[in-house]
Amino acid sequence: LAAASLAAGAALLLSACASSDDSGSAGSDATAAGGVTLLTPGTLTVCSNPPYEPFEFKDDNGDVVGLDIDIMQEVADDLGVDLLVKVTAFETIQSGVDLDTGSCDVVASGITITDERKAKFDFSEPYFDADQGLLVPAGSDLSDVASLEGKKIAVQQATTGETFAQDNDLQTVQFEDLGLQIQALKTGQVDAAINDIAVLGPFVEEGFEVATTFPTGEQYGFGVKKGSTALLDAINGTLDRIRTDGTYDAIYTERIGTAPAGE
Ligand code: ARG
Repeated sequence: LAAASLAAGAALLLSACASSDDSGSAGSDATAAGGVTLLTPGTLTVCSNPPYEPFEFKDDNGDVVGLDIDIMQEVADDLGVDLLVKVTAFETIQSGVDLDTGSCDVVASGITITDERKAKFDFSEPYFDADQGLLVPAGSDLSDVASLEGKKIAVQQATTGETFAQDNDLQTVQFEDLGLQIQALKTGQVDAAINDIAVLGPFVEEGFEVATTFPTGEQYGFGVKKGSTALLDAINGTLDRIRTDGTYDAIYTERIGTAPAGE
């Protein structure tokens, strides 16, 4: 009897080893819950581009926090691993370069799902709706696309806001991140700035106003390297869970300041 159960145990162990070999990793410790293989075993490494409040921004301790990070923390918790946020350029996030070069397992950076990006990496289910917005100095008479003719418009490099401005033949000045973009508006180097509407709110307290919304109907998704099916399934599984158990609404309400509109 004892010998039989020992043999059964050995068979179990063998099959456990075999299944972790299938994942292409060195050992079972490289595989988190659900057969997900991570770049650094035990850590979910995420690339993000702050400042982009309320999605990713540095708190007083210099830690990157925000809605994207909150959701990534939920994913890491479900996988039973730690979360590491790496700050990289939005250009290399949205082009798939960060994923291709092995900088991170996931890109989480308010990334709009577009066909061009879908050709380069895989997106999770959408988790946030977005439109573009126009930020101007308070009292400015710039209010629509027509009024922007001949004006200098700050855009963030490689974003859908830049694409929107170019599609509308606006004269753009490109900045690497939102912070530099708003700084240029402060110093009068540009007349207005275009970026996702949800990140413009905090600047109203700094002497700016959101002049209008351009309804582009965008949706944000998290990105993984093409073929990282187990990780993508895990992210979508966490999105499902947090939408069902109230966590998503709690995160949204804390970070956005209002409850999500009827889903
Ligand atoms: N949603 C826009 C895009 O995908 C802008 C995102 C910029 N994100 C950031 N963290 N800087 O192009």
